[in-house]
Amino acid sequence: MGIQIGIGLRIILNTIKMIKGEKMKTIVITGSRNNKGQTAKATGALIEGLKDASATTEEFFLVNMDIQRCRQCNDDGWGICRTEGKCIIDDDFKMLVEKIKDSQAVVFATPVYFSDLSESLRAFLDRLRRTCMNEAGKSGIEGKRAIGVCVAGGGGGGAPECTVNLEKILQRCGFVLVDVVPVKRQNLDEKLEILKSIGRNFSKKQ
Ligand SMILES: Cc1cc2nc3c(=O)[nH]c(=O)nc-3n(C[C@H](O)[C@H](O)[C@H](O)COP(=O)(O)O)c2cc1C
Repeated sequence: MGIQIGIGLRIILNTIKMIKGEKMKTIVITGSRNNKGQTAKATGALIEGLKDASATTEEFFLVNMDIQRCRQCNDDGWGICRTEGKCIIDDDFKMLVEKIKDSQAVVFATPVYFSDLSESLRAFLDRLRRTCMNEAGKSGIEGKRAIGVCVAGGGGGGAPECTVNLEKILQRCGFVLVDVVPVKRQNLDEKLEILKSIGRNFSKKQ
């Protein structure tokens, strides 16, 4: 009940901001190692659409950042993620979580590896999911709108499976998924148009 009110309040505040002409702050978190590859093309189209809708965008390439894997600090497999909603590792995780909390919407993009997320996005989201099990960690993330993009650039298989995995972990963190888009090499050009349109209309979606 409290959660529903919180989400409703956030939607109302975002709508007021939009009516007042304030720009929607979005961040784009990418798990590709290639900033000119197919995932970058897909996020580029989405960003173009978001900018058409007057959103600001800031991009983060996880492979260029220091995002370590969860250490499962305690004997029970947990750590301060469970008790305090924070991670003990001193790297770029904390800064990126603050960026998410400070934004109105987040795009998560990944190349499809073995029908799943890339290792860099997996490392970040595995830790985020843990901190979001605690109310303090979840605060500022719960109810935030997100879009997922999964790009299968090889044979083209596995994008739908990857979207399911991405959706599952983002939902567990508390994000509201506006869309999770499977893309494959064979339909990339058509999907670019769709992604641009999703970006353009994103601010209107709940
Ligand atoms: C370890 C690994 C696993 C991959 N698994 C798949 C796959 O399941 N399906 C697919 O279509 N492409 C697969 N690929 C190809 C990538 O999806 C493709 O290279 C993608 O375009 C990379 O994104 P980028 O252009 O942003 O680097 C795989 C690539 C790697 C390195």
